[in-house]
Amino acid sequence: MIVVCENCKTRLKIDESQLNPSIKQFTVRCPRCRHSSTVFMPDVTPEIESVRPVEPTPARAGYTMVITNQKGGVGKTSTGLNLGLSLALLEKRVLLIDFDVQANLTISMGYQHTTSFHDVIHDRNRKLESALIQTSYPGLWLLPSNKNMVLLSKKYFGRDDYEYILRKQLAKIKDRFDYIIIDTPPSIEFFTINALSTSDLAIIPTQCDYLSTHGVDQVLNIIDLIRKKTNPNIKARVLVTMYDEAATASRMIFTKLKNLHPERLYETVIDRDERLREAQIMSMPVINYDQKSISGLKYMALAREIISSSGKNQ
Ligand SMILES: Nc1ncnc2c1ncn2[C@@H]1O[C@H](COP(=O)(O)OP(=O)(O)O)[C@@H](O)[C@H]1O
Ligand SMILES: [Mg+2]
Repeated sequence: MIVVCENCKTRLKIDESQLNPSIKQFTVRCPRCRHSSTVFMPDVTPEIESVRPVEPTPARAGYTMVITNQKGGVGKTSTGLNLGLSLALLEKRVLLIDFDVQANLTISMGYQHTTSFHDVIHDRNRKLESALIQTSYPGLWLLPSNKNMVLLSKKYFGRDDYEYILRKQLAKIKDRFDYIIIDTPPSIEFFTINALSTSDLAIIPTQCDYLSTHGVDQVLNIIDLIRKKTNPNIKARVLVTMYDEAATASRMIFTKLKNLHPERLYETVIDRDERLREAQIMSMPVINYDQKSISGLKYMALAREIISSSGKNQ
C-alpha cells in the first residue's frame, strides 16, 4: 500500500503483510521530514453486496455536487464525507472540497494545518493542485479548508464576477475526477454562492423535523435565483438524513416531503445512527468504522443512486 506523507507528500511504500489485519489505523513516520501521519485501514470486503462495484453509468468527468442547506446540523458535512468515500469505494475518482471556514470536513478526515483554497488564490504562483491532499482512501482526494478562508470572503464578496472564482479554478482540474463534492457553510454567502454557481447538482440534506419543509423551500428558492443569475443548468435533489422510523413525527414529515417533492426526493434515506457519531470521533467515514452500520450502507446506496442518475438529466 502507498501512503502519502501529509506534510511533505513523499510517497511511502508500506508492506501490508507486516500489519496486524485486525487494526483499524496505524501511524507512520516519514523518513524524510519525520512527520507522523495516521493511516486508516479500509474496512470493507468485496463480498459485501453494497460495496461491489456497480455497473458503470459514466457521468461526464468532473460531475460537481454541492451539499447545501442554510440550516446547520442537518448532515451536510457527514453527507459530503460518507458519500465521497462511498463513491470512491465504487471505484470512482472523487474530490471533496471543504468550502466552509469551520473546516469541519477537513477536521473530520483528520487533517490540520493544511493549505486551503484561500492560499491558492492569495498566492498567484501557487496552483490548485498543490493544495490537494491524496487521502489514505484510494480514489479520494481533499481540497481542505483553513481559517484563512474567511479572508477570501472578506476580500472578494460582492466584487465583479466573485461568483465564478471557484468555477475558474476547478476548470483546470475537474476532468481528473469523476465526481466533485463541495461541502458548504449553513449560510448563503461567498462560499455557497461560488459552490452553487459551479455545480451540476445541489443536494439538500434535511432532517424530518418541524421546520424542515420550510428550510428546503428556502434553499430551492435560492437555487431558482442562481439559475437566473449564474448557473442556468443546476439541478436540485433532497436527501432525508437522521431519519428515525420509530418516531411518528419523522414519518409524518417524511410523507409531507414526499408529497411536496416527489421528483426531487432521493429514494435512499439516511437513518439516524450512533455509529456515524462514533466514527466522527475517530475521524473516519462510517463505512470504514463499521462496514455493517446502517448509515454506512445507506450512503453506499445513495452513491449507487447518484451514479445511476448522474449520467442522465436528473
Ligand atoms: N445519520 C446520522 N445519525 C446520527 N448522527 C448524525 C447523522 N448525520 C450526522 N449526524 C451528526 O449530526 C451532527 C451534525 O452533522 P453535520 O454533518 O456536521 O451537519 P452540518 O454539516 O449540516 O452542520 C454531527 O454531530 C453528526 O455527527
Ligand atoms: Mg458542516
